[in-house]
Amino acid sequence: MKVAAIIPAAGAGTRMRSASPKQFLTLRGAPIIVHTLRKFLQCEEIGRIVVPLRKADVPFFESVLSQEKIPSVVQLVVGGFHRQDSVFCGFSEIEQDTDVVVVHDAVRPFVEVDLIRNVIRTAHEKGSAILVLPCVDTVKQIKRNVIEATLPRDKIALAQTPQAFRYSILKEGFERAREDHFYATDESCLVERLGYDVVVIRGSDRNIKITKPGDLPLAELFAQQEQVTQ
Ligand code: C5P
Repeated sequence: MKVAAIIPAAGAGTRMRSASPKQFLTLRGAPIIVHTLRKFLQCEEIGRIVVPLRKADVPFFESVLSQEKIPSVVQLVVGGFHRQDSVFCGFSEIEQDTDVVVVHDAVRPFVEVDLIRNVIRTAHEKGSAILVLPCVDTVKQIKRNVIEATLPRDKIALAQTPQAFRYSILKEGFERAREDHFYATDESCLVERLGYDVVVIRGSDRNIKITKPGDLPLAELFAQQEQVTQ
């Protein structure tokens, strides 16, 4: 099985309100994205890792890669305006004979390696697979400041990454999205709308997306715990 990973890291991180994008903030001495890359480098089945970045961040990140002795399976590309554009930039670099492509947010460094493997294996067998968490909050659909509906919580799942797809399925998803000028906030949506089944696998509470300043104390704690157990 030939597997490639795309780890989009071309966001500006405006919600973090810090000078550097959130994927470059340091946790326990290494940028968040380095922690994420280390998880993917532990999966022997992944032969190639493509990281879309903002053009201005490339020189900085090249120096991080050599400093952290990240192997050459990691390749940098320039990303795009939306997350979907960045993932597509990464996808364009991947060989057509790749079996499975796995996409993961750079800002989710605490994903368990076994979960990455499970998503890849399931996508290889079934076509597409993503991690989800059950929803513990009651979910409201709103319009301006008023509630329109209460959505049935037992039918709601919160999507995480990694999300993995057979190469041909993700390719078709991108092609159709381009034709329709359709934009989504994850890759699963691009293949769902083609009618493909996407298998859901229970994700992990630790697999947080570091997005807002309030996420950092928890991220520090998780990073510290991982350092202790290594
Ligand atoms: O914007 P969002 O929070 O969904 O970002 C998820 C991931 O996508 C982050 O790792 C971010 O760096 C990346 N991203 C990207 N290109 C963009 C926007 C976001 O690679 N234009």
